[in-house]
Amino acid sequence: MAPHLTGTATASVAYAAAMPQGSTPQRIEIPTPDDWHVHLRDGEMLDAVVGYTARRFRTAMVMPNLVPPITSSAAAAAYLDRITTAAAGVETTTDGFDPWIVWYCSPDIDTTDLVEAHGAGTARTVKYYPAGATTNSEAGGTGLSAFVDLFEVMAEHGIRLLVHAESTRPEVDIFDREEAFLVDELAPLCAQIPELAVTVEHVSTAAGISFVHDHPQCAATITPHHLARDRGDLLASGLKPDLYCKPVINSPADRDALVAAATSGDPAFCLGTDSAPHPTSAKYGPTAKAGVFNAAYGLEVVADVFARHDAVDQLAAFVSSNGCAIYGVEPPMGRLVLEHEAVDVELATHLTTATGDDVVLFGTEEASRWTVTNV
Ligand code: DOR
Ligand code: ZN
Repeated sequence: MAPHLTGTATASVAYAAAMPQGSTPQRIEIPTPDDWHVHLRDGEMLDAVVGYTARRFRTAMVMPNLVPPITSSAAAAAYLDRITTAAAGVETTTDGFDPWIVWYCSPDIDTTDLVEAHGAGTARTVKYYPAGATTNSEAGGTGLSAFVDLFEVMAEHGIRLLVHAESTRPEVDIFDREEAFLVDELAPLCAQIPELAVTVEHVSTAAGISFVHDHPQCAATITPHHLARDRGDLLASGLKPDLYCKPVINSPADRDALVAAATSGDPAFCLGTDSAPHPTSAKYGPTAKAGVFNAAYGLEVVADVFARHDAVDQLAAFVSSNGCAIYGVEPPMGRLVLEHEAVDVELATHLTTATGDDVVLFGTEEASRWTVTNV
């Protein structure tokens, strides 16, 4: 089913003035990007969101935190089928749309089933969630050390481990959770199994960037919202549930470290949007669900960051070639053009699912300054 786009207009011309004075419109041509971390959900939400990803990206590393989570070849194949069906009517990039199914790290995983599914293409990677750290992490683990046997098998068969790096120790401050997890849990695991390839997902701190620099077996994804916002945006002018995600958006210094890593061309870092839709009914209640829905405009947000940091020449590495090298996929055939100029059309600010749930689209401000075309 085609995605159902609705929305009210935003003041695109006013936003466009936010670029530096005197800067001239820029045209950036990049290979078709991949999204190495995305939540597509299921059912009506899947129908509503899949088109945003399939129209822009070739590969989508699809997170497994469904209820129940993906822990078997049967569940993985059925989910891949549902995603493919939902995306069937979408006009994709010239490279097509290739959803990758991730398994949820759980004692329920049968290693023989995992290895066979890896060979069959229905278990690309395995994702570890600390129990209680984020949305649908109830089935997660209470420590990486409990899964060493599984990780040994994964290392032997070249199956990469994706990690949600947040300590859930209650005494650890919310803004220090990433560093605590990396020091307490991931560092010992890396030392124990140096052959295990690991991706630190949605790295959010300077400490996380340093950790990746210091551990050659690790790569990291970085999100548009962690690159473009800091905790002042989340908290300073009224609490913004639409910016609440896990790990939380951190300090300006942390954001600057992420931008420096992303714009450096360092092959260890690639784009993973962590696009995570939640209906406004779950965002604006007494407790907000964690997640930012950025599949619609995340690429514009990233391009805007790179342009503001005079690094558009590194955009292709971050959104395309670095991820291809990390995940061992061929470079894409297609190209995508981003032009920096005020968008003279009304931009949707939210989507509405078939059952009437609204989801806010992140990045309308940046999207008003860019046009994107597949070529
Ligand atoms: O903000 C987040 N939302 N972080 C996660 O790790 C999960 C995600 C979701 O599934 O909503
Ligand atoms: Zn995620």
